[in-house]
Amino acid sequence: MSNIGSYEEKYTSFHWKQAEDELQYGKNGMYNIGYYCSDYLCEKGFGNKQALIWEGFTGEVKNFTYDDLRIFSNTIAKFLQDNEVNVGDRVCLFMDKIPELYIGFIGILKMGGIAQPLFSAFGEEALFTRLDDAKTKVIITQKKHLGKVRRIKDKLPGLTKIIVVDADQSSLQTNEIHFWMEKTEQVDNFDIVKADPEMPSVLHYTSGTTGKPKGAQHVHASIIAQYITSKWVLDLRLDDVYWCTADPGWVTGTSYGIIGPWVCGVTQVILDAGFGTEKWYAFIQKNKVTMWYSAPTAIRMLMKEGLDVVKKYDLSSLRHLASVGEPLNAEAVIWSEKAFGRPFYDTYWQTETGAIVITNFPGLKIKPGSMGKPFPGITATVLNPKTFEPITTAGTVGLIALKPGWPSMMRAYWDNKETYDSKFKNGWYVCGDRSSIDDDGYFWFVGRDDDVINTAGHLVGPFEIESALIEHEAVAEAAAIGKPDPVNMEVVKAFIALKPGFEKNDDLELGIINFIRKRLSPLAMPQEVEFVPSLPKTRSGKIMRRLLRAQEWGEEIGDISTLEND
Ligand code: WT7
Repeated sequence: MSNIGSYEEKYTSFHWKQAEDELQYGKNGMYNIGYYCSDYLCEKGFGNKQALIWEGFTGEVKNFTYDDLRIFSNTIAKFLQDNEVNVGDRVCLFMDKIPELYIGFIGILKMGGIAQPLFSAFGEEALFTRLDDAKTKVIITQKKHLGKVRRIKDKLPGLTKIIVVDADQSSLQTNEIHFWMEKTEQVDNFDIVKADPEMPSVLHYTSGTTGKPKGAQHVHASIIAQYITSKWVLDLRLDDVYWCTADPGWVTGTSYGIIGPWVCGVTQVILDAGFGTEKWYAFIQKNKVTMWYSAPTAIRMLMKEGLDVVKKYDLSSLRHLASVGEPLNAEAVIWSEKAFGRPFYDTYWQTETGAIVITNFPGLKIKPGSMGKPFPGITATVLNPKTFEPITTAGTVGLIALKPGWPSMMRAYWDNKETYDSKFKNGWYVCGDRSSIDDDGYFWFVGRDDDVINTAGHLVGPFEIESALIEHEAVAEAAAIGKPDPVNMEVVKAFIALKPGFEKNDDLELGIINFIRKRLSPLAMPQEVEFVPSLPKTRSGKIMRRLLRAQEWGEEIGDISTLEND
């Protein structure tokens, strides 16, 4: 029997207040996520239970109980307070998937800071943009990433301290401070900031089509949704060994890689090493993983290696599988039934929604290729793109839209009210994706409604890539689009028009690629460059990425006059 029991019954009867009560949210006036992910579990008697089993890329293993989590997060919280970090200050986490990242996140929340996790593979320009926008006060990082921080710190007057978790003080410069989590004097009692449910908690940056990346700002009350979705969709139970493969630089890695599993009291395992089919199977076998949350690109990479390699490992511990980030094709669902004896459950949500909103549920029939149905407490529809009225005919494609009001919805885009407001139409939050709904109420994803590129489950804004490209002396104009890719769904392709006096050749292409490599994250790097005499533009001079994209995907270009009027 699944945790949710009957989906239909829950969908009609559920109210968020039930999840709040079940979680005892607001107990003794306490609303802080940091408390609910550590002290709360210790008070319930799970202090000695494993909260985190971490494995590094060299095979090194570290274990942390819920009591360790409580104490080390206290220690970090106190250290931040001692370094003049105040309630509401932004504290960036810029680290690989090391224990300090996970525990530091809890520590920041406990002292009332706003956690701003950023993917450690980001280049200095990507890092700068996000720290500059958030006016980040402190960054916590590792020696190996310090070079990037040093190169931009003079341009960031608000960044007062750089905390390094693995360096000796002697190797550090002014305003850089050493903090060794496991060697600093432990803080057993910390006065957790009680927080109000609406107090800001996490700031996650996400890319759009135009302008700089936007900081989706969440609040402590988000835990209500993260808790109940972890319980009903990921089906987490106390005896689970849970593995979320996402990096906390992205929202999956915090909502379901930190908050969800820990508030549910499971043991979570983390592998701080990249993808490897056999490495992953061996990790599941060794840790007896029962619940696995991953992404379609990873599943397609596993599929490529075939079924024989699956048979080399004992993966019988797996009880439930789920996936997020991109469309999960029907073949992947069917393959997973063959490989693991159970399907991957597709889940749909966004940085902005903070938690799963449309999804498949254990106990509810899966239609392979469909994203499933709205989570209880979520009203979802598809809107007519012109009138923004709900479409009532089954099978008609429209814009996915949600009725605002669930606890984990972002409360703002940081310092960007205009863009935030533009996401709402007729009282609906418009996600920016297209889908249809069938007669049974299942959602079928069609595609994005903007030019954002989804490569291996990561959103990449074309604007950032184009901005980096046109800084190169030879580039007159540039456009970046997603090109179809069998594994990553899309990869970045760049179109470049050169300035007069420059000739296209391999050396120039390499020069341009090396020029932008330093500025962008590896995910945003173009896999293909095409030199063109000029780029197609609208009458108002906007580059028609959709035209380039349609050509690349072999799609009908349709009526260009509408594009030209954009
Ligand atoms: C965008 C959100 C929150 C999870 C990580 C991504 C796409 C997400 C699915 C799915 C098809 C999906 C959408 C969405 N997406 N899940 N199950 N099927 N597309 O968070 O970076 O904010 O990206 O990812 O386009 O809007 P994100």
